[in-house]
Amino acid sequence: MRLDKMLAHLGFGTRSQLKKLVREGVVMVNGEVVTDSSIHVDPEEDVIQVWEEEVKYIQHLYLMLNKPAGYISATYDPVDSTVLDLVPKEYAHFNLFPVGRLDKDAVGLLLLTNDGKLAHRLTSPRHHVPKRYFVRVEGRVTEREARKFAEGFRLDGEEDITLPAQLVILSQGDVSEAEVTITEGKYHQIKRMFQACGMKVLYLKRISMGPLRLDPHLEEGEIRPLTEDEMNDLREAASGG
Ligand code: URA
Repeated sequence: MRLDKMLAHLGFGTRSQLKKLVREGVVMVNGEVVTDSSIHVDPEEDVIQVWEEEVKYIQHLYLMLNKPAGYISATYDPVDSTVLDLVPKEYAHFNLFPVGRLDKDAVGLLLLTNDGKLAHRLTSPRHHVPKRYFVRVEGRVTEREARKFAEGFRLDGEEDITLPAQLVILSQGDVSEAEVTITEGKYHQIKRMFQACGMKVLYLKRISMGPLRLDPHLEEGEIRPLTEDEMNDLREAASGG
């Protein structure tokens, strides 16, 4: 890979900025100052330093966001802010996109990455990756609703019946709380399933996707790279393991 391409990918500037930077003599490859930004390097083998600090090539980036309400899960929106507006500048050049969608008013776990293959494996309807949500709904949720969720619904405008979903009741009253696990991602799926039971979702928070759990220390709006362990678990789940 060309040195300028690698450094550009890591956010050190455009190719012409990098040409200048390298000419200034601040970039070293295997301990030697280089002056030509077009040379080829092996990101796996060569030690690249900029201003005497080693830089590591990262092709794919994986960030966990605790999405706040009010943001659209997309890379662009003509009107509203998107989840990409929450990404710190240091990651801005990675061409990130959200893996799956959370409604504008929904909160919680959202994975952002530039790894299209992994994203596809996690969101493809064929792979049935479970997604768990905490929900607060208007009305009394009972075992009757839990049975309906398990049996499946034919939602308006959909040909297929929803796949069996798990509804675990946490509290019952005029407002009830529950955890719902679904293995597909139809448009507004959980809201529409409750609507089919005559109930309105007041609050929806995603708490897990496959093996990835929302970090309880991550405040709404905060973002952090996945840990090695989270990455390994996610790759395993995406490969069908
Ligand atoms: N179900 C919904 O209704 N909305 C979401 O954002 C996710 C699941």
